[in-house]
Amino acid sequence: MASPLARRPDELAGHQVRPAAPGLVLPEGPRYPRPVQAWLWMKKPTWFLDRCSRAYGDVFTMRLPFGMNMVHIARPDLVKAVFGGDNDVLRAGEANATILEPLVGPHSVLVLDGPEHLRQRKLILPAFHGDRMRAWEAAVRDITRAEIARWPAGQPFALRPSMQAITLDVIVRVVFGVDAGARRDELRRHILAVAALGRNPLLLFATRDRRLGPYSPWARFIRARDALDAALVAEIRQRRAAPDLDRRGDVLSQLLLTRDDEGRAMTDDEVRDELVTLLFAGHETTATSLAWAFDLLLHHPPVLRRLIAELDDGTSEYLDATIMETLRVRPVVALVDRHVREAVRIGGHTIPAGATVCPNIYLVQRREDLYRDPAAFRPDRFAGQTPPAFGWFPFGGGIRRCLGASFATFEMRIVIPEVLRAVTLRPASRRPARIHREAVTFVPHDGARCVVTDRRAYSSAKPSRQDG
Ligand code: HEM
Repeated sequence: MASPLARRPDELAGHQVRPAAPGLVLPEGPRYPRPVQAWLWMKKPTWFLDRCSRAYGDVFTMRLPFGMNMVHIARPDLVKAVFGGDNDVLRAGEANATILEPLVGPHSVLVLDGPEHLRQRKLILPAFHGDRMRAWEAAVRDITRAEIARWPAGQPFALRPSMQAITLDVIVRVVFGVDAGARRDELRRHILAVAALGRNPLLLFATRDRRLGPYSPWARFIRARDALDAALVAEIRQRRAAPDLDRRGDVLSQLLLTRDDEGRAMTDDEVRDELVTLLFAGHETTATSLAWAFDLLLHHPPVLRRLIAELDDGTSEYLDATIMETLRVRPVVALVDRHVREAVRIGGHTIPAGATVCPNIYLVQRREDLYRDPAAFRPDRFAGQTPPAFGWFPFGGGIRRCLGASFATFEMRIVIPEVLRAVTLRPASRRPARIHREAVTFVPHDGARCVVTDRRAYSSAKPSRQDG
């Protein structure tokens, strides 16, 4: 049952999000058979989204196998209505759980709804407070420098795996607080095994009843996950007993110290689930955004030159604009999901219970009425400007907005200048990478390949100029 609040109409920006009569039809959408739509959504996601939006407008339904109906929302005022709607009726946890629960576990903030979700959010949020993050700056810088030192000179290499190595090390060090070599290497090994298997698109369509044999991708995924779990639980138990627990700045130690409104601590299982959540929500998303930032910068020399010049002058406004523009034109997460528990009216449409409503980040952030020449990479549009309301939401919104948004931006603000300071890069291809889908994220098809053409010492206090 939905809460009594669900029965009260909510007027939001002139658009109602309120219960509607059951048995009503879904908004229009492509008529292809469900398996064909699933294939297009997996293999040609941007082409399919652009085509649907041209043909059906701002609200359309994609019909996928197993009766999944995704209602895409591509208009800022309707996105606002969804984010501000009744969270008991539009349930993000339920929508996320379909794919993520086997990995992140039942206590994860990602898969919970209602008061349980809010409780976990309140427990995690303080660990990412600005003051705490500032203490991690040196670690992020050291990790970035160590990775740059491994880049080959004069030979093409893919930046994305390298950015993944950086963001993974950052999570293991500042989130898990594991510095010691052997334990860190063991954790990294388990994480990489799970991440590699988690990229298999077949897992997305695995059903809850997964009897697919001991050598199936599913069974191998479960074995890798269990091995990671065991390593994490050992780390949690050891940390609980650490004599310096209350003096440590990492997220794991904070989660062990924190208490909810009733004075309860998190259990080992809860802490485990949140660690895996932070790891998988935070590592590849940030790494891929960084890879996109470099891919775009290297293919737009005037933008790169201006960024370097502004960093030389000690200002970071253009860096912030570059990060915002990267997240706009290459959002790593293309949409967010809300599972409809009870029929609702959104704008002029009635969405029946059982469908999934998806504020579409990719489509909204490419609207011509919000952004002139929307496919072009132009950080200028954000220099000293705030983005249009609900027209820029790469981190989602409402009470589900990404918990790591400031952390991700903090990391990008350190890694980008650090790279530009240390090396001169040129792109390995003439054109920017194409958007390719990997599991649930949009990634550069070639991993953002580039070549190091010059290397500088770290001694200079200021970044040196590149000629782009
Ligand atoms: C550029 C990097 C990142 C992007 C683009 C991104 C994007 C997102 C998006 C779109 C959501 C869903 C929001 C919604 O449903 O409205 C989300 C949720 C979340 N993200 Fe991120 N994220 C990034 C980095 C991170 C990092 C670094 C962390 C933590 C270390 C993190 C932790 C989370 C968590 C815990 C949630 C669930 C929040 C909830 O359900 O209440 N993310 N993120």
